[in-house]
Amino acid sequence: MRIILLGAPGAGKGTQAQFLMAKYGIPQISTGDMLRAAIKAGTELGKKAKEVMDAGQLVSDDLIIGLVKERIAQDDCQKGFLLDGFPRTIPQADAMKENGVDVDSVIEFDVPDEVIVERMAGRRVHPGSGRVYHIVYNPPKVEGKDDETGEELVVRPDDEEATVRKRLGIYHEQTKPLVDYYKTEAQAGACSYITIDGTQPVDQVSAILAEKLA
Ligand code: AP5
Ligand code: ZN
Repeated sequence: MRIILLGAPGAGKGTQAQFLMAKYGIPQISTGDMLRAAIKAGTELGKKAKEVMDAGQLVSDDLIIGLVKERIAQDDCQKGFLLDGFPRTIPQADAMKENGVDVDSVIEFDVPDEVIVERMAGRRVHPGSGRVYHIVYNPPKVEGKDDETGEELVVRPDDEEATVRKRLGIYHEQTKPLVDYYKTEAQAGACSYITIDGTQPVDQVSAILAEKLA
């Protein structure tokens, strides 16, 4: 099963990826998590990406396409994968097509900008795994600690309100056109296109997803 999770920053892609990974046993390919890991490891890619990400801008298509191509070729992706945060521009979607990477379903999480700004203020993440929490809507079992490892949760550097608003602007400009792109693909029978109201509670969104993908 090959799935693309589409939606604004903070729409719940990472949160629902956790659910779908556990349910379908397929890996999550989060370009954001991969870039954050590269920054932590101090690689060349990390050095190039850090400033761009902290400013809420997009990393260049070439770098990202190369990264995803390499990841998709790995053994654990042969039975399927969840693309979280990729593609995010028309050139990235075209590159997938040119490389013969078909998808079964595109899932769009629809959430208004104001809800997103509030969500990001309460987001906490576990840097080691990419697991995502919210201090009110999806709290960890122990405050400030990851459920599985007990390690510290942190605030993402790009979650400051001004940066979130910048990321939302870039989403509307560069990523939103993918909605029509994949709706057209779906009409041509290339994949299914599912829109979900992402303002509902986490468990409800997961339940709808499971029903629609069944
Ligand atoms: P990336 O890490 O992909 O960030 P993003 O797309 O901006 O998305 P987020 O991770 O912020 O949100 P999400 O939808 O995963 O929401 P989450 O589940 O965490 O990218 C970061 C940066 O890397 C980019 O800005 C760019 O610079 C670069 N980059 C990455 N990919 C790239 C690409 N392809 N091309 C170029 N550059 C790229 O949820 C958010 C919060 O809400 C959490 O606290 C969560 O607990 C809570 N929440 C989730 N669902 C609900 C719900 N239903 N109700 C209440 N709260 C909820
Ligand atoms: Zn995410």
